[in-house]
Amino acid sequence: MPITTCIFDAYGTLFDVAAAARQAASEPEYAAIKDDWPQLAEHWRLKQLQYSWLRAVADAHCDFWQVTQEGLDWALEKTGHHGDTALRERLLQLYWELGAYPEVPAMLQTLKAAGLNTGILSNGSPAMLRGAVDSAGIDGVLDALLSVQSVGIFKPDARVYDLVGAEFSCAKEDVLFVSSNGWDAAAATGYGFTTVWVNRAGDPMDRLPWTPAHTLSDLTGIPKLAGI
Ligand code: LAC
Repeated sequence: MPITTCIFDAYGTLFDVAAAARQAASEPEYAAIKDDWPQLAEHWRLKQLQYSWLRAVADAHCDFWQVTQEGLDWALEKTGHHGDTALRERLLQLYWELGAYPEVPAMLQTLKAAGLNTGILSNGSPAMLRGAVDSAGIDGVLDALLSVQSVGIFKPDARVYDLVGAEFSCAKEDVLFVSSNGWDAAAATGYGFTTVWVNRAGDPMDRLPWTPAHTLSDLTGIPKLAGI
């Protein structure tokens, strides 16, 4: 079956999640994280994701913005910046304005020009996704911003992946699902999508029961995998 629908994870896949800490670290007011911003960014991301998984298994769903803030609070304390409220506010503000990776606009444009459906499927709340998409200027090349909010549980619950078929009236085998999160690409493979793991960091493959169909180092190869 040809691919009709290309679906992208948001954070880390289209949007650079390390950009908030990197940007703040470059501003004189936040020189406190000049040296350790990479550690801060990594702890922040990992805790944000861990809290999403724990809340999913514990049936304690909340808005992704809440786990984003709670993950940041843990990371600030871990790196010795607990109590720096100005830094906290700046990082949270920047999270709403994360840039897209450089190849994203042209890649999405190519998919749209070929007549494919395009969308985001993300843990992010509708407001967070709207903020990121607007700030990256890619609204016109995305048909749908699908948020877990409508099913009340985080990835990788299958009800989240079900949102794609419901939105586009397509079968699982029509979908190319793209994520930089190895666990997301793996779980979506188990769900039945054709998957791409975008492994920018050269990370090892996650040890999970499912292996993504494709691995790329960035998003430029997506149109080819979509059959264009
Ligand atoms: C998302 C996170 C998992 O956008 O990156 O859903």
